[in-house]
Amino acid sequence: MPVTDDAARSAGSATARLREQGDLRPRIWPLTACALAGGEISVGGVSLAEIAARYGTPAYVLDEADVRQRCRDYRQAFGDAEIAYAGKAFLCRAMVRLVDEEGLSLDVCSEGELAVASSAGFPADRVLLHGNAKTPGDLRAAMAYGAVRIVLDSAGEIARIAALAQPLARLRQRVLVRVTPDVDAHTHRAVATGVEDQKFGFSLSTGAAADAVRRILAQPELELAGLHCHLGSQITRPEAFETAVRRLAGLMAAVHAEHGVTLPELNLGGGHGVPCTEDDHDYDLAGFAARIRAAVRGACASLRLPAPRITVEPGRAIISRAMVTLYRVVSVKHVAGLRTFVAVDGGMSDNPRSALYGARYSVRAVSRPADPVQLTTVVGRHCEAGDVLAADVALPAGTRPGDLLAVACTGAYHHSMASNYNMVGRPPVVAVRDGAARLLVRRETAADMRQRDVGL
Ligand SMILES: Cc1ncc(COP(=O)(O)O)c(C=O)c1O
Repeated sequence: MPVTDDAARSAGSATARLREQGDLRPRIWPLTACALAGGEISVGGVSLAEIAARYGTPAYVLDEADVRQRCRDYRQAFGDAEIAYAGKAFLCRAMVRLVDEEGLSLDVCSEGELAVASSAGFPADRVLLHGNAKTPGDLRAAMAYGAVRIVLDSAGEIARIAALAQPLARLRQRVLVRVTPDVDAHTHRAVATGVEDQKFGFSLSTGAAADAVRRILAQPELELAGLHCHLGSQITRPEAFETAVRRLAGLMAAVHAEHGVTLPELNLGGGHGVPCTEDDHDYDLAGFAARIRAAVRGACASLRLPAPRITVEPGRAIISRAMVTLYRVVSVKHVAGLRTFVAVDGGMSDNPRSALYGARYSVRAVSRPADPVQLTTVVGRHCEAGDVLAADVALPAGTRPGDLLAVACTGAYHHSMASNYNMVGRPPVVAVRDGAARLLVRRETAADMRQRDVGL
């Protein structure tokens, strides 16, 4: 059913309408999400029921206006800093194009992500390659692409990249050193990457980072562009970044004192917190950016260093809220005295984050009025008791097979971490904008999976 409501056609008016309704909260639902009469929901001016009918379920729905707005908010908040979208959060060619059009850079971490970027024509000089164990294929692909910056993560990479650069004998390969500043950003252990006891980066406190700098500067094939750190994910305290800035600026000053080299770039990674459920706080991007920029200016001024250009690498903060996952209910089970399970046609194969990190979600019924509601646990279809998408969420008491559910904030690390566990194909990605839907990534089929299986 096409949506005729003009208010649903622009991000601005839709946002205002949501606020009036106090219904779908724009801080966790896509900016253009709109609750329509009868419990219907539209995103980008397209009804979710229409998307389900046309593309099937489960499906990821991407609100293009939301992504563009987040990119613009970042550019405005951070002024002349470089904003590099972390492609690991979600990547496809249309996303690369969109990020390019919005003037962002791109952070990738494999040959595969580089191939997506290059096939969408993304400029090499705005690409950064990360990874704690870059394969020869990753490194060769980055160097063949052109002026990609490589963020070094281990001592062995220094000689390896220099050796690969030699026969190319053109530009010196630009690199950054990933530093572990030993800052605890108080986040989930699986995503805490600024502390010493984890696999990423060169330790600042043991002198490994300073040693890496020495070795890079001794390699004529390499050009040291700057320092990098990434503290973790879902970080809500700017203090963690301020501490990291002071420590990295200290290393920059030491490099200047020892080698007479002024490093032009300071990359502070991503990990900026994003609200995911209605109970989470909104984060103040402008205030956060102002504090980081002030911290860099202040630290450098006190060390008599020229302030480097800042890079930040948000992934989740750009894409998380722009996408919802649309499911169809397959079965409803009431376990007397305990709980009601609503099982949908996807689950941990399209969203592994509940099982991995205990992530929490907001779920809405699509096209069924929400009154009366009951506490319900939404589970997936997979053969794991831990395949729980959202525990204890309020859904209409009359929810039944065939109904549609939408789960908010499923843009980051959902499609990109999806699997085909139980040989369930990965869902399509459908973009919506100005009342129109278009397919970005098609559904993975049983035929796709059979094709990989070449040995009977
Ligand atoms: C080096 C680096 N930069 C940026 C990011 C993006 O983090 P987030 O999506 O939490 O902003 C990550 C995530 O793992 C990362 O490893």
